[in-house]
Amino acid sequence: MRINKYLADAGVASRRACDKLIESGSVRVNGRIATLGMEVELSDSVSVNGHLVKPTAKNVYYIMNKPKGYVTTVKDDLGRKTVMDLIPQKAGRIYPVGRLDYDTEGLLLFTNDGDLANRITHPANEIPKTYIAKIEGSIREDTLAKLRNGVIIDGVKTKKCNVRVVEEDKEYTKISVTITEGRNRQVRKMFEAVGHNVVFLKRIKIGDLSLRGLNRGEVRALSSQEVFYLKNL
Ligand code: URA
Repeated sequence: MRINKYLADAGVASRRACDKLIESGSVRVNGRIATLGMEVELSDSVSVNGHLVKPTAKNVYYIMNKPKGYVTTVKDDLGRKTVMDLIPQKAGRIYPVGRLDYDTEGLLLFTNDGDLANRITHPANEIPKTYIAKIEGSIREDTLAKLRNGVIIDGVKTKKCNVRVVEEDKEYTKISVTITEGRNRQVRKMFEAVGHNVVFLKRIKIGDLSLRGLNRGEVRALSSQEVFYLKNL
């Protein structure tokens, strides 16, 4: 690749600013002063003012509308379908950010950016995640209040969260739940704790990032605005 791209990918500066560095004689390739536009290989030794630099892998970010029946893992020992089966080859080595259960569908992020993945999953950051849970029958107002105020799951009380009914008919009720923790099977366990069985669960949002326009099983790269949004969430 071109020397200025190599330097930019290594995070030295923009390509144009790298050209200036090259012109000033600060850049060496295998010990020789580099020239504008020269080609370098990844195996070459490139230095700027005597410091060795290497391009880092570019960060990539994808969003998936996970269908149920897929395990959130890179490899499943039981040979079940994994979310990686839906990721295009060209995405390279990326990993799911957090986890959705086998039976849960909806918004799942993938990246090779470990910092962003940690930011989103670390409970201390309290990133809101919104789910739609469907239960059979109706739910009482005092039960909704219990869910909002926290219920005991696995011996520990859940944090306060937003809970509201979004749809109801004779057979089912759909409830929107926004939590900031993300404990193992949290939403299902919260409903279990108040005597309801979740028959369908879908994550629809992380912060304000939604599945908008993405059909079940589809994957797309995030826009740079969306990545910026997540990094500042
Ligand atoms: N809560 C659950 O119960 N399951 C998920 O997959 C995510 C949150």
